[in-house]
Amino acid sequence: MRSQPHTGLHPTYIPQRTTTPIPQLRLLRPLRESLQLGHPWVYRQALQSPPDLPSGTVVEVVDREGFVARGLYDRSSPLAIRIYTLDPSEPVDAALVDRRLGAALSIRQRVVSGLGRDTTGFRLCHGEGDRLPGIVIDIYGPIAVVITDGEAARTLLPAVTDSLVRRAEQLSLTTIYERHQRRAGSGGGLLWGTPPNLPDGLRGRHPLELVIFEHGMRLLVDVEHGQKTGMFLDQRENRRLIRDISHGLRVWNGFSYTGGFSVAAALGGASHVVSVDRAEAAIDTARRNFQLAGLPTEPHQFLVEDAFASLGRSKAQGERFDLVIVDPPSFAPTQQAVVGALAAYRRLHELAIDLVAPGGLLAAASCSSHVGEQAFLSTIGDASVAKRRAVQLLEVRGQPADHPTLPAFPEGRYLKFILCAVS
Ligand SMILES: C[S@@+](CC[C@H](N)C(=O)[O-])C[C@H]1O[C@@H](n2cnc3c(N)ncnc32)[C@H](O)[C@@H]1O
Repeated sequence: MRSQPHTGLHPTYIPQRTTTPIPQLRLLRPLRESLQLGHPWVYRQALQSPPDLPSGTVVEVVDREGFVARGLYDRSSPLAIRIYTLDPSEPVDAALVDRRLGAALSIRQRVVSGLGRDTTGFRLCHGEGDRLPGIVIDIYGPIAVVITDGEAARTLLPAVTDSLVRRAEQLSLTTIYERHQRRAGSGGGLLWGTPPNLPDGLRGRHPLELVIFEHGMRLLVDVEHGQKTGMFLDQRENRRLIRDISHGLRVWNGFSYTGGFSVAAALGGASHVVSVDRAEAAIDTARRNFQLAGLPTEPHQFLVEDAFASLGRSKAQGERFDLVIVDPPSFAPTQQAVVGALAAYRRLHELAIDLVAPGGLLAAASCSSHVGEQAFLSTIGDASVAKRRAVQLLEVRGQPADHPTLPAFPEGRYLKFILCAVS
């Protein structure tokens, strides 16, 4: 069933030869220290006369003192260079990609509990955090899903594919699929293998929909039609927390997507779970996820609705819940959007607090990297003041260990997940 390893789909890939002189790009700004500390980005305006080079060209970043770092040039992005190594003797090539992926896998084998048994969905490569800037690889059972960010990172696809194929047996992979993140309308394409031939219990409705395990919980993932690479793996440990605390609770889960938090709550013994998402396909999958988990779909509710409107309507109807979860999409895709995003989080948290029964819990999340933890906490604090409800922070969490970050790269710490008591 397996096809041959990848043989060069992308003609722009430029393997580095040590004999070819590497273009040197001079810094205009004093970035030596920040890059040496591990920040992996150089913006175009930080460069002296950016050159006319194809995206994916290996370049050296230099300043008055000489060599600083080596990376890939991107002609189409304001992020002109992503750094892959600080070692002047280390080529940026397929061998580097393979070494980094090997290191990433060995970390996951150590830190993701039950990997390959209770948990078959995990992030194998988290871009900058795994020192492979612009490259994300999520594993869903036998399918690896790759997303690249920018033209330059995409030139490494053949190297990424070859490295995954080399590890296919170890990872039990049959399929490598590329999701086209930034091209609306085109979902993606197979890079290697064929859609997996799954036993009935693991097969979904579509060729690339399958059942994965997350701490033993069964969840449907459609890598072709689902959001991101198929699901939001970054909330895995937070879903587990919700499962642990939900016994006997009435739970409202807004922005539920395919109901991960909802299934976790119901499996944890929640008496009533409401899932709300404006995407009809997501709510349909949430219902199927309940059935898959052997849970009744009633008295639980599955609503295709705007979450803000749903919160307002439920409050007007006098409903209250013991646990309210709000995990919206990023409200701040850019730095310019931060002020508006903070206002939106404040408004959302006011509406959510209104729905929490006295002595109940609020779980609030943000995946906006531009919104820092303290700013996000302030939106909860402001909402509690506006609603005259006291709030205690019980858990302040972020992303799990298979989404690593770098000390000098705060931009990488994007996920906030706050559990609070609301009196
Ligand atoms: C970050 S995801 C939630 C992930 C989910 N908590 C999980 O564990 O899989 C955000 C979800 O919000 C939904 N969404 C976006 N805007 C919405 C709105 N105004 N009302 C309801 N849902 C919305 C999207 O369809 C998406 O499913």
